[in-house]
Amino acid sequence: MTAVETPALNPEVDAIRHHYEISNELYRIILGPAMMYSGGYWNDGEDQRAVHDEAQMRKLDAFVELAGAAGADSVLDIGSGWGTMLDRATTVHGVGRGVGVTLSRTQQEFVRAIGNDKIDIKVESWEDHTTETPYDAAFCINAIEHFVHSSLSPRERTRRYQDFFTKVHSLLRPDAGFVLHAMTAEALPLNRALLADLKFLQREEFAGCHIPHLSELTSAMEGLFDVVEIRNERESFSIACRVWLEQLAERRDEAVALDGEDVVRRFERYLDIFAYTLEDKYFNNFRIVLRRRG
Ligand SMILES: C[S@@+](CC[C@H](N)C(=O)[O-])C[C@H]1O[C@@H](n2cnc3c(N)ncnc32)[C@H](O)[C@@H]1O
Repeated sequence: MTAVETPALNPEVDAIRHHYEISNELYRIILGPAMMYSGGYWNDGEDQRAVHDEAQMRKLDAFVELAGAAGADSVLDIGSGWGTMLDRATTVHGVGRGVGVTLSRTQQEFVRAIGNDKIDIKVESWEDHTTETPYDAAFCINAIEHFVHSSLSPRERTRRYQDFFTKVHSLLRPDAGFVLHAMTAEALPLNRALLADLKFLQREEFAGCHIPHLSELTSAMEGLFDVVEIRNERESFSIACRVWLEQLAERRDEAVALDGEDVVRRFERYLDIFAYTLEDKYFNNFRIVLRRRG
């Protein structure tokens, strides 16, 4: 970048699509029927692979309750993936209308094919989303890691996170619940192997993405949201990554036939990096329950 260029605020749309616009069939092999790309809620002693889909639904049910979203007129899911949260909210929890935003056109196609007319998926960035009627609740599940460009300075990053929370605040009714699941990074000593893996994540697989520190998020939401609860649920995500790796290994030949050896190798590498960095406590996965102020 030269001195006169302005750094991108978000990671490039193409960088997001590089990861999310492989075939939906390959994602189905990895993620299973739940089609959730984030952590689940497992109980001690469970066969983690066998109950993966149930663990994902438990997480969604808990999030609906924490956001006070059951029976709501409308909810927003920011970074809505394959629509599972909105499908669950509208079919099991009596939500009238679920709106999701994503940058992935293939995810929108996938959700349209479900045929749930209470769900509307928009291919747009969170910052471009508007609504005439404020939402009763919102979710953002492991998506904020994509929203701020890693080349920004700490001060610029804080401003971007402030923009994000200001935007969500403007989309919600007063006192609405907002549940955020977010990976965060710890400032721990790095070694050469870990540095190479982090470089792969940030320069290749998720180019430009920034995994925040918890304080970057909490300071940016001040005055906009009351913090109800913050819990570190690191294992919820590391277990999911290990299950997805097993699911991929079992049907590897099919996966390669769908999207090719290179894509499959990329996924094997990055899922293993996330699994071990969470297990080794370099990364966290915080559940942050918020209430919109005023
Ligand atoms: C890890 S996936 C999580 C999907 C879903 N929340 C889940 O838990 O299964 C991240 C999601 O964020 C979306 N995303 C990335 N950048 C975005 C942006 N600027 N605006 C809206 N969505 C975005 C991606 O398209 C993807 O759907």
